[in-house]
Amino acid sequence: MARRVSIVFLAALLGWFAGVLSQSPTTTTDTRADTVFTLPPNADVGLPVIPNIQDPLAIDPQSVCTGYKASKVRNVSNGITADLSLIGEGCNLYGNDVKDLTLVVEYQAADRLHVEIMPKYIGKENSSWFILPGELIPKPGVDDKDCTSKSDLAFSWSNRPSFSFNVTRKSTGDVLFTTMGAHLVYEDQFIEFGSSLPENYNLYGLGEVIHGLRLGNNLTRTLFNADVGDIIDANIYGHHPIYYDTRYFKVGGKSEKLTYAPKATDKSAKYKSYTHGVFNRNVHNQEVLLKESNITWRALGGTIDLYFYEGPTQDKVTKSYQRSAIGLPPMQQLWTFGFHQCRWGYKNWKELQSVVDSFKKFEIPLETIWTDIDYMNQYRNFENDHVQFPYGEGARFISKIHDNNQHYIPIVDSAIYIPNPDNASDGYPTYDRGAKENSFMLNPDGSTYIGAVWPGYTVYPDWLGALFNSTGTNKWWSSEISTYHEKIKFDGIWIDMSEVSSFCVGSCGSKNTILNPVHPSFKLPGEPGNKIFDYPEGFNITNATEAASASAAASSQSAAASPAATSSISALYHRTTPTPGARNINWPPYTINNFAGDLGVHAVSPNATHHGGTQEYDFHNVFGHQILNATYHALLDLFPTKRPFIIGRSQLFGSSKWAGHWGGDNYSLWSYMFFSIPQALSYSLFGFPMFGVDTCGFAGNADMELCSRWMQLSAFFPFYRNHNAAGGISQEPYVWSEVIKASKIAMKIRYALLPYMYTTFYLSHSTGSTTMRALAWDFPDEPWLANADRQFLLGDAVLVTPCLEQGATTVKGLFPGVGSGTVWYDWYNLSAITGVTAGQNVTIDAPLGHIPVFVKGGNVVPLQQPRMTIADTRKSSWSLLAALDGKGKAGGGLYLDDGESLVPNATTWVDFSATETSLKAVPSGNFTDMNMLANVTIIGLPERVHGVQFDGVEVKSGWTMDGDSKVLTITGLAAYTVDGAWNKERNLSWRFE
Ligand code: GLC
Repeated sequence: MARRVSIVFLAALLGWFAGVLSQSPTTTTDTRADTVFTLPPNADVGLPVIPNIQDPLAIDPQSVCTGYKASKVRNVSNGITADLSLIGEGCNLYGNDVKDLTLVVEYQAADRLHVEIMPKYIGKENSSWFILPGELIPKPGVDDKDCTSKSDLAFSWSNRPSFSFNVTRKSTGDVLFTTMGAHLVYEDQFIEFGSSLPENYNLYGLGEVIHGLRLGNNLTRTLFNADVGDIIDANIYGHHPIYYDTRYFKVGGKSEKLTYAPKATDKSAKYKSYTHGVFNRNVHNQEVLLKESNITWRALGGTIDLYFYEGPTQDKVTKSYQRSAIGLPPMQQLWTFGFHQCRWGYKNWKELQSVVDSFKKFEIPLETIWTDIDYMNQYRNFENDHVQFPYGEGARFISKIHDNNQHYIPIVDSAIYIPNPDNASDGYPTYDRGAKENSFMLNPDGSTYIGAVWPGYTVYPDWLGALFNSTGTNKWWSSEISTYHEKIKFDGIWIDMSEVSSFCVGSCGSKNTILNPVHPSFKLPGEPGNKIFDYPEGFNITNATEAASASAAASSQSAAASPAATSSISALYHRTTPTPGARNINWPPYTINNFAGDLGVHAVSPNATHHGGTQEYDFHNVFGHQILNATYHALLDLFPTKRPFIIGRSQLFGSSKWAGHWGGDNYSLWSYMFFSIPQALSYSLFGFPMFGVDTCGFAGNADMELCSRWMQLSAFFPFYRNHNAAGGISQEPYVWSEVIKASKIAMKIRYALLPYMYTTFYLSHSTGSTTMRALAWDFPDEPWLANADRQFLLGDAVLVTPCLEQGATTVKGLFPGVGSGTVWYDWYNLSAITGVTAGQNVTIDAPLGHIPVFVKGGNVVPLQQPRMTIADTRKSSWSLLAALDGKGKAGGGLYLDDGESLVPNATTWVDFSATETSLKAVPSGNFTDMNMLANVTIIGLPERVHGVQFDGVEVKSGWTMDGDSKVLTITGLAAYTVDGAWNKERNLSWRFE
């Protein structure tokens, strides 16, 4: 597959090469102003660096470093402590060796072991970069003082030949983590440790990466948050240094024998799996090398702060990780589960109105309309373009959509425009108010750090200054959001460019602000003269109609980066070596495989400084986290009782307690539709259930077929948004008649499932369980599922098997659990899937417009009637789908509240349980819901039903039996539930004679 780059980054990259040729600024015509100064392309050109993992001259730390010796090992409550002392003179390879370390081993809970290695002596000046402050990133502590003996994890250590440690699962004797065989390297800018791993290991997590769900064993994961688009295997927006390791054992004979997934081809054998998690609480730039038989962790700072989660299931690891380390995700408002429409390039309120009208005309549900940076006054946050997006018209537009129970969300970027000091008419009060509160990041000399993004030269909120030095950044941010809300009644916020992006390497220079507003060094998508053109993938150019519409789109859609150009960049690389007593902040001696190369390219530079003196080098990956934190609290300041809705781009472990995430700048390509599944499942592992991607693709042009398939697939993701880049062909679902049909089919299912999705999400919020699930997690005894990421489960009950191939009309899918009695029913015709064996790849019909969906026997699924908005859907009558399992049983639940309150004053849980002859609903709680129970469908019955009773009364009419498919449908219950379906216990029963 061609390697693609983000349209924005591509433009910057082209600027990078062009910069070598042209050093002098030029002027150009911008769409937003008259003649503006254009940033010289070389502004975003860094020094040529070569990633250590690709550098033939790089020295392997294990060949020169000698490790540490443990001494003074002491038993303390819940664990041990020890001193670690450097053996010999050390190696000072990619930093200055730290001679004395402290080891802390702590049993924190029955299922959690903490192993920390940190410098023994930490001075005032380096404490912030070795020790991650707990006020910033909470640190798990001891939950249970008596857990040591309860733990199934054993810690052991050795000094031969140098200090190493093992973590073993006692019950199986399996070594989960062992540093044996490699020396510990601990320097001020480089820490290396690792573990051997079993052959063909099954590792998951370590994001954010565009990759299959199961990480390969020839992959280096680089963690450095970056504005680069969804490039396969590169470092992109998020930082999640946690992995899950699943090990399958073959059960048989006397002992259990370890057998790893790809070898487990014997589908008739019995297996058992154990999953554990390893989390490194470290926010520094780092790399994880996944080699054939080991994992090596390399971090450019911080400490080794490891948490081993025993599991032994994925579910237990995920729950425990959230509860102990990162927090549980917030409950979302009900309406956020409706369909969202967005694009870069909606020109004015009128166009927005016509989009809203088109949805109505074609009777496609639309819950929320979004605006991208187009709405802003010259791309400045919290100010509207007075001509295209005036406040008065906006207020009327928003009030109209609110009257229709629809919503509006604007983008908010991370950088703040700095007005031209020489131009009195270039006022920007948002900046002035921020500056008054010392809200912006600095240069090392104390002057303001200047970057550049869409509006021109910019400054950056200093979230750390606010935390540690009481600057007013958060107060200012909150006040800007509230002030803006007085003019534009938005319903949530979309945070972008938060890695944090800058189109200059280093500060662009305070003196240059007299040139503002400057234009980026590359043309923006959709700008005149920017006509890089992309046909939809596999597009038949003989199709005159579509070809004409495609050509008409003036697009800057990306092309694959030219390998020829890449190879020509340089034979000369900038390498640094450690300086005794000092760190090299901008060019650390160890070069990570950052997609953009030099850490300063397309990002605020590592030496940008916070009030109080800490540097971006140590907190780069925290910016996106803190802007979500600030925005969450700003929305709470504005609406103290409502759940804030935020979708953010850059994130860190723990950002999930404030915001959801969308998958970033993907492409209108079939492969990216597939990648949306592993990306979503990885975010389930990271504790982010509110996830979705740009449906139909961001960059490039979608065609009818791709958009039809994608609109159907995304309907089963919690966050469901169609978004498109500027200049691309329109891809709203009403653009193609086939997509209208396909979207309606999938949206009908989604909106019918709303109570089920909301309940599943509520369980994620309250327990940490996942909303979107990989098959392997719910069926842990089937090793052949270890790789399965072309299908997924939505909660316990719903299996989605989407068609991901252009031109295909069938799809191959597995039916997990069938070997051990699980029954699956087709959503559409309610018939049971039969004749399938364990691990069998079944060909399933999937003509265009049809997405195969199955319900797992054993579940009672609560449903409502799909309507055009979430509010109307929520007001409709209830239905229940009881799908009996092989033993004739089913169960489930329904969570109810007002759908918006942070702390609802009334909630209800309805517990469902079904047998072959009855279905019971037992409500508990005080939420009043007046909707009637309209339909109940029971599937998987053993024989024909001859009579039905509801709450002891014979239901004489209003039920039917489909003998062949063993389905009982009862439609006559509304009259019995006029006071609300769940205001008391309900008993439905039926008899066969
Ligand atoms: C970034 C965002 C994208 C947005 C664009 C313009 O590339 O990821 O979603 O459309 O900026 O704001």
